[in-house]
Amino acid sequence: MLIKRPTDIPSSEITDKETYLNRRHFMQSALGLAMLPLFNEAQAGYGNTPLKHEKAERFRIDEELTPYKDISSYNNFYEFGTDKYSPAKQAQQLTTDPWSITIAGHVEKPGTYSLEDIMKPHALEERIYRLRCVERWSMVIPWIGFSLADMIKRFQPTSSAKYVKFTTLERKSEMPGLRRRVLDWPYVEGLRIDEAMNPLALMAVGLYGEALPKQNGAPIRLVVPWKYGFKSIKSVVKIEFVDRQPVSSWEQAAPREYGFYSNVNPQVDHPRWSQKRERRIGEFLKRKTLMFNGYEEQVAYLYKGMDLRKNY
Ligand code: MTE
Repeated sequence: MLIKRPTDIPSSEITDKETYLNRRHFMQSALGLAMLPLFNEAQAGYGNTPLKHEKAERFRIDEELTPYKDISSYNNFYEFGTDKYSPAKQAQQLTTDPWSITIAGHVEKPGTYSLEDIMKPHALEERIYRLRCVERWSMVIPWIGFSLADMIKRFQPTSSAKYVKFTTLERKSEMPGLRRRVLDWPYVEGLRIDEAMNPLALMAVGLYGEALPKQNGAPIRLVVPWKYGFKSIKSVVKIEFVDRQPVSSWEQAAPREYGFYSNVNPQVDHPRWSQKRERRIGEFLKRKTLMFNGYEEQVAYLYKGMDLRKNY
């Protein structure tokens, strides 16, 4: 977001994860070595814990998945550096177990809950979502997670809860990016409570069938597919129910460029570039950006009567 042009990854270098693993397993059995790993998953750059999940049919789009390799090596996670390739290296030092989340504010069941407690009531499902970054690149990601709305209901927000504020971990000893004051740490994001209750909003704990890579926001992050990628806050440690609109980190850093809503909207330009088109990582030609990132049918009701040029 500190506004370098994305470097494109040539499609010739790309193998999606399934093809990759199938090819490897084929080679192993062809050689009669099925029980003997040719090389282990960690060496291959994979190997996070597999997560049991169902496929959520209503949350799948029929578009080519972005290869695992790109999803996990081309990241924005400023706590681990501002360039795209640092998080994949630097985030490996992050301790993600144990992990807890504090639930606070206007809610009947506040407290600090372990990640296990947070996840226990929820069946995990795989949802395939587009992710459109404000920098004009996009990916299609098979997330694993559970509905944010279901999680919120469990903590019983009161009628004073008008917004939900999310905060990322701030741990200087493991997050070298915090030494630079590119943002006013910790990273903060927010949603209006009715946006948060929309069934599309997801708490993600994995992708491609496995626990989240650290660079993608392990162990738990938000995914809001109709908004620019920066709303999808990573490595969440606090969720607060508040009565005033929170100021998000990017809004605070550059209010003329980033608003609270940050809905994907090809009609509203960023002050320094058009948002009409995007480059899907792995593709050469740009494609048109869709209103609300293609989720108009599911979310347009939330913004009825609002001027989306003012509320950007
Ligand atoms: N969350 C935190 N805590 N820190 C960040 O720098 N970057 C955001 C978002 N969440 C960011 C963050 C931006 S700009 C984008 S585009 C997405 O994460 C990228 O998610 P990905 O790396 O999983 O593709």
